[in-house]
Amino acid sequence: MNVDHIGGDDPDLALALLPADDLTEADRVFYRFSTDQGTVGYGGLERCGNVALLRPVVVLTEYRGMRFGTDVVEWLLGEAGRLGMLSVYLLTERAAPFFERLGFVVTDRADAPPAILRTRQATGLCPASATLLSRTVHG
Ligand SMILES: CC(C)(COP(=O)(O)OP(=O)(O)OC[C@H]1O[C@@H](n2cnc3c(N)ncnc32)[C@H](O)[C@@H]1OP(=O)(O)O)[C@@H](O)C(=O)NCCC(=O)NCCS
Repeated sequence: MNVDHIGGDDPDLALALLPADDLTEADRVFYRFSTDQGTVGYGGLERCGNVALLRPVVVLTEYRGMRFGTDVVEWLLGEAGRLGMLSVYLLTERAAPFFERLGFVVTDRADAPPAILRTRQATGLCPASATLLSRTVHG
């Protein structure tokens, strides 16, 4: 799998990664994942001090169920480590079981770092019903 660092203003990223109105703000890095056949998905990290918010991971429909999602999350965890992050948090409405298989645990918002709770994803872009999960980068 190939990985390219892309800008938050990449038009395909905005289509894939909804909700998306904060993609071009500071402290976010986004990546496109591809094979020789083309793009398979997108992901990103939003840095909040020494922890990061995992931005929604998207595998294009035709490539789902082929382990690309697992590879993308594992690559992003490695990248978070290279960026000096200690833990990674994420909000998801439907995919909590997918992330639990990858070592993430459901986390009470009261136990999350304030910087994570202040992100636009946590304060508005994701519904209040979204599940918060976390994982240590080297766990
Ligand atoms: C969630 C998503 C990234 C998974 O990508 P994927 O490439 O299909 O995942 P994988 O092939 O690596 O799946 C690994 C395992 O997790 C399971 N899985 C995949 N999506 C799941 C989900 N939403 N809930 C529970 N399990 C899921 C797979 O069935 C597979 O199980 P298996 O090991 O028994 O075969 C992809 O379905 C997607 O883009 N969904 C829409 C966007 C989304 O919900 N993103 C997550 C929010 S951040």
